[in-house]
Amino acid sequence: MMNDDLKRQAAAMALTQVQPGMRLGLGTGSTAKIFVDLLGEKVAAGFDCICVPTSEFTGRQAASLGIKLSDLETLDRLDLTVDGADEIDPGLNLIKGAGGALLREKIVAASSDAMVVIADGSKLVETLGKFPLPIEVNRFGLGATQRSISDILTKHGAQGGLKLRQTPAGETFVTDGGHFILDASFGRISRPEALSRDLLDVAGVVQHGLFLKMCKTAYVATPDGVRTLS
Ligand code: 5RP
Repeated sequence: MMNDDLKRQAAAMALTQVQPGMRLGLGTGSTAKIFVDLLGEKVAAGFDCICVPTSEFTGRQAASLGIKLSDLETLDRLDLTVDGADEIDPGLNLIKGAGGALLREKIVAASSDAMVVIADGSKLVETLGKFPLPIEVNRFGLGATQRSISDILTKHGAQGGLKLRQTPAGETFVTDGGHFILDASFGRISRPEALSRDLLDVAGVVQHGLFLKMCKTAYVATPDGVRTLS
């Protein structure tokens, strides 16, 4: 089965959780994009909901499908956020941010009563860290921030280094918030809570892609069907 078919199955499961009138957070990435397409079909058929997107890209996609958009100034809470992930551990802790939207994704998920993750089975891991951890940093003082994060990599036994994210055209990647991303190769993150605290203690770090205890349910599609993890 093609990967996109699996993503579509996971997205379709998440769609069953969406009730009329809900305030929804819309994730970013290829799986979230499929969810937004499916939601758009529902909206075109008369379904009512209001959504906060986690990236400019998702906002444009949702608007083009006629989905009503809002923001977290107008809405104080959201009922549900549906988003993808780069890694999911058995405790439903996540690494996110391959798409560079981790800051808005975390703000939107933290403002939601529930976060549902949709993914194909390749995202399941025993221990987080094989996927490089995205760390969003302020442009100012980049060198100092890089040095502080490198010390944290050493403290946490990282097996690889730190890379400033580039676009395919070879330019420095800039997030929707105007920041840079450093991708940190740990190999294995054995103490995610401690790592999260250490990273957030660095003045130049805006946010990181560890989503700990934020996800309530994950729909993970495999060739044998969609597994519901909670
Ligand atoms: C973007 C993200 C994505 O949700 C994550 O990278 C998963 O993307 P995909 O569904 O394309 O595998 O965190 O910042």
